[in-house]
Amino acid sequence: MNRGGGSSCAEPAGTVGFLLCRGGQVLRAAAIEAPRMEARLLLSHVLDCRAEDLLRDPRAAVAAAAAQRFVGLVQRRAQHEPMAFLLGWQEFWSLRFAVSAATLIPRADSETLLDATLAAFPVRDAPLRVLDLGTGTGCLLLAALTEYSNATGVGVDRSAAAAALAAGNARSLGLAGRAAFLVADWAAPLAGRFDLVLSNPPYIEAAVVPALMPEVARHEPASALDGGADGLAAYRAIVTELPRLLRPGGRAVLELGAGQGPAVAALAEQAGLETARVRADLGGIDRALVLLARAGRAG
Ligand SMILES: C[S@@+](CC[C@H](N)C(=O)[O-])C[C@H]1O[C@@H](n2cnc3c(N)ncnc32)[C@H](O)[C@@H]1O
Repeated sequence: MNRGGGSSCAEPAGTVGFLLCRGGQVLRAAAIEAPRMEARLLLSHVLDCRAEDLLRDPRAAVAAAAAQRFVGLVQRRAQHEPMAFLLGWQEFWSLRFAVSAATLIPRADSETLLDATLAAFPVRDAPLRVLDLGTGTGCLLLAALTEYSNATGVGVDRSAAAAALAAGNARSLGLAGRAAFLVADWAAPLAGRFDLVLSNPPYIEAAVVPALMPEVARHEPASALDGGADGLAAYRAIVTELPRLLRPGGRAVLELGAGQGPAVAALAEQAGLETARVRADLGGIDRALVLLARAGRAG
């Protein structure tokens, strides 16, 4: 970013207004959708203030070190690195989760799994045992633990870096006493049974992954996205484990990719599970599949 240039910027170099203007120009040239807003977010992150506070005094001077940091972040965002990686966190279920390139950034659509869970388990002080397969940041498990005050849980991820990230998030949220994290291939080492199994597995068809938006394809790990040739490989592995993992009356709540509901429900049926419910996300796409072991009661 050329700090001395930017003739179309009204404010003098080194001021808030100038940095926002030049940052917005760089992001617009990189085809970032909301360049001015993102420039504001990045500068407010660097200056540790609210984005709206920046607009009060566009002629305020910014220290050289902070300006340099802002320029670095703008350059990274211009390479389509996700905003969450630049800020270091993402909000999910009104909680703040540290993120890293080890796993998926939590998505708002995944909150549908929590909505489905709350409907399936309405008693909030129940001492539920929860398992989260492919826990990533731990967002599903930890959000569930905030809703069920007596619940405990285990989060599993094949990535050691993801499991460590989730453990850190559990500590930050004050939930470390009720959550444990393991590095494993799905539920392989687990012998116990659970009331609730949550999972948002990788479910994108392998051939589609490179064509996803650059924020995802270039910066989020294939291990969190790639569901094999038909997108269903992880579901095949997970549903065969569910009958031995679910307690009587237990439920599994799985995230679905768009249009995958019938195929995943069929795999679950072959594994001895019944579909209790399918829940759509805010965009109307079926996103959460609620399953129960066939011997259990429907609900
Ligand atoms: C789509 S991400 C979901 C992360 C988080 N649960 C969420 O909803 O944001 C899938 C996660 O599954 C993990 N994963 C992929 N294959 C796995 C396996 N065989 N066993 C355990 N975890 C696996 C990935 O490392 C990744 O963190």
